[in-house]
Amino acid sequence: MSAPNKSYDPVEVETLKPEEIERMRDEALAAFAAAGDLDALQEAKVAHTGGTSPLALANREIGALPPHAKADAGKRVGQARGAVNKALAARQTELEAERDARVLVEEAVDVTLPYDRTPSGARHPLTTMMERVADVFVSMGYEVAEGPEVEAEWFNFDALNFGPDHPARQMQDTFFVQGPEGAGAAEGESGVVLRTHTSPVQARALLDREPPVYVVCPGRVYRTDELDATHTPVFHQIELLAVDEGLTMADLKGTLDHMVQSLFGADMKTRLRPNYFPFTEPSAEMDMLCYVCRGESVGNPDRPCRTCSSEGWIELGGCGMVNPRVLVACGVDPAKYSGFAFGFGIERMLMFRHNVEDMRDMVEGDVRFTRPFGMEI
Ligand code: DAH
Repeated sequence: MSAPNKSYDPVEVETLKPEEIERMRDEALAAFAAAGDLDALQEAKVAHTGGTSPLALANREIGALPPHAKADAGKRVGQARGAVNKALAARQTELEAERDARVLVEEAVDVTLPYDRTPSGARHPLTTMMERVADVFVSMGYEVAEGPEVEAEWFNFDALNFGPDHPARQMQDTFFVQGPEGAGAAEGESGVVLRTHTSPVQARALLDREPPVYVVCPGRVYRTDELDATHTPVFHQIELLAVDEGLTMADLKGTLDHMVQSLFGADMKTRLRPNYFPFTEPSAEMDMLCYVCRGESVGNPDRPCRTCSSEGWIELGGCGMVNPRVLVACGVDPAKYSGFAFGFGIERMLMFRHNVEDMRDMVEGDVRFTRPFGMEI
């Protein structure tokens, strides 16, 4: 600001000349009119009404004028600033209204559009089937146990009493991740495999817990099979293990009957046929009554059954009394404890329970296959 000077004429002060003030006002009005949106208007506002705007600077000059000139100059600058502020407010209102109208259009939600165009997904029937079977045992007090899919050969075979030369260890069945002679492994050391069954979880469960042990182990397993209608190299099993004092084959039979009755109906039953598994002794193959014909197709050519090929029974899986060698390998005293175990494939169960004819449908991930099973939780 200039120092007061009594001999000084306002009209001589460049910035306070009437035509200068008018020019500043008109420039401000033009800038506001030209501002196309609120951001541009904000810039114009700072430029034309801010502390360093021409009109603000002119206003400051007034203080330096002699008293007789102050009123006149003050009036002119004041009027110009008033007009500028009014124009600014008017443009502000106008642009806000424009913005509000635009937002209403751009962000409009059409509540009449159909909301269910994206179909809800479905859980895979293998998952729901596995959970359904596990639930039967959870409701009897069993615990769900899990183990790794990339498994030590020792758990997958040795602990389960598969001798070193057992054919199941050979490359045609087992995916080896690392052979025993592999990188850095010493002679006789365990290799690493993709587990070929859920039975290694038996050994893990026994090592992790003190008996009594009651566990159900659902999971994914791997074998070097070609994918075709009845084989897939990746499939699912569910395993059961009970180890306690005084368990007998009668407990195994009762447990199997309870399972098939829970899953297929009160009149279901199972039968056992002698078989061999290294980790059970005695071992059996377990069949369940055909849940479609309930055995009535047997010897009855008028009522053939496709599900069981009129045999009356459907093969479910393997079972038996836990081999004492397995108990010993897992630190359980076979003189005090006995146990039973069984395991079966979920894909097979899904096939005969839902008449799925080709296993490939289960692995392709096509929702047209999963959707009819519904959104079971
Ligand atoms: N692990 C066997 C397999 O994959 C199935 C099996 C047989 C599991 C007998 C068991 C059992 O628990 O006791 O072929």
